[in-house]
Amino acid sequence: MSNAPIYEIDINKFWDNPYPDLKIMRKRFSICFVPQLNSTLFTKRNSIAENEKKIEVFSSCQPEGLMTRLMGENMMRKDGEEHLREKKVILPSVSPKTVKNIWKNEFIKNTKAILNKMIDFEKGDIVKDFALPVSAEALKTITGLTNMHFKEMDRVSQGMIDGIANISGDPEIESNCNDCTQSIDKHIDEMFPLIKKFPNNSLLSVQYEAGLSDDQNRANIKLAISGGQNEPRDAISGTVWSLLKHPDQLKYILKKECSWMNAFEEYCRWISPIGMSPRRVAKNINIGGVDFIKNERIFFMFGSGNRDEEVFENPDTFIIKRKLGASLAFGAGPHFCAGAWASRCLIGEVALPLLFGCFPNLKLDHRKGDVKFGGWAFRGPLAVNCIYI
Ligand code: HEM
Repeated sequence: MSNAPIYEIDINKFWDNPYPDLKIMRKRFSICFVPQLNSTLFTKRNSIAENEKKIEVFSSCQPEGLMTRLMGENMMRKDGEEHLREKKVILPSVSPKTVKNIWKNEFIKNTKAILNKMIDFEKGDIVKDFALPVSAEALKTITGLTNMHFKEMDRVSQGMIDGIANISGDPEIESNCNDCTQSIDKHIDEMFPLIKKFPNNSLLSVQYEAGLSDDQNRANIKLAISGGQNEPRDAISGTVWSLLKHPDQLKYILKKECSWMNAFEEYCRWISPIGMSPRRVAKNINIGGVDFIKNERIFFMFGSGNRDEEVFENPDTFIIKRKLGASLAFGAGPHFCAGAWASRCLIGEVALPLLFGCFPNLKLDHRKGDVKFGGWAFRGPLAVNCIYI
């Protein structure tokens, strides 16, 4: 077992709010073993950014892992050339150029339709009424699964996330995850004849046209769905909450001193929608006095690195004017988020400006109590109750 210093957590408290524990970990030892997670954690920003690139030591390939077993072998679980080949294949679907020239118009059209429905409501939950459908409609467009209902997109995404985290092997969670992956396969089967006849820029289509095998194509679609629904959903609703909670910061945007994009990027640093990325130790090695043993598991804690007080001033405060070049919100290595450009456009250029433009008097509904957040691997607000008009 790793000889890293041991730090014990209360797993329920860590889910409610991981930041106090992460702060102590960063202060006492940048690398530590957490028995409750059965994993060695990297918690400092620069050490994460440096070690994430050492793929010969910290491998993404986890053939025995739950993700591979339940969702197939996707690009997030591959290293080196094999990974790079698939990443290049999907570029025509997620590149800045495609996002700007093709997806942005779709994002605007879908978001306007969702806002049109909200106009009839006086109040509601921004997560359910806005962030969830906006995120799901975007993901339908990008993956090519336009035949899926937005609620089904959210369900299958959550079902796979629960399945990957099901370390205790709860049979109900596993069976639900299998049901979700089967639903995705069924939707893919329905769309295939159409995209074969009329190729487009969707992930399904570009992977097929590039000659990826059926298994590879399906596994990467499932990866995009497991990683591309809850993050934009949580980032949209979380940024809305942050701006309403900090009206001084919202004012900077309304006075055009800052952009909606600044607010989105700062939110993703402050409360990172993906708090960690796992790796497998590929060979025995000593780093910073800690022995890493082959096949043990490590977590790169992006959410902790993004609050590293040696890199960010006042890291626990939401400050949209700060410089964010060091943020790890989308990763810092070869697995840097493939959906980063789409998310920036969807949230910073479309969802936030259209929502605040449509509801200039948007307010938090304090009668419903404080907004609660949950999660440490994936983190976001559970509900953001607002008064719309
Ligand atoms: C706010 C939104 C999002 C955030 C914060 C986010 C964050 C991340 C992070 C932290 C990683 C892992 C990076 C690493 O291990 O180095 C990742 C990987 C990935 N993300 Fe995202 N993501 C977002 C949205 C999306 C969307 C919308 C999609 C799909 C359209 C997507 C597709 C992917 C894929 C395919 C990977 C794996 C890339 C690879 O293996 O090379 N993400 N994302």
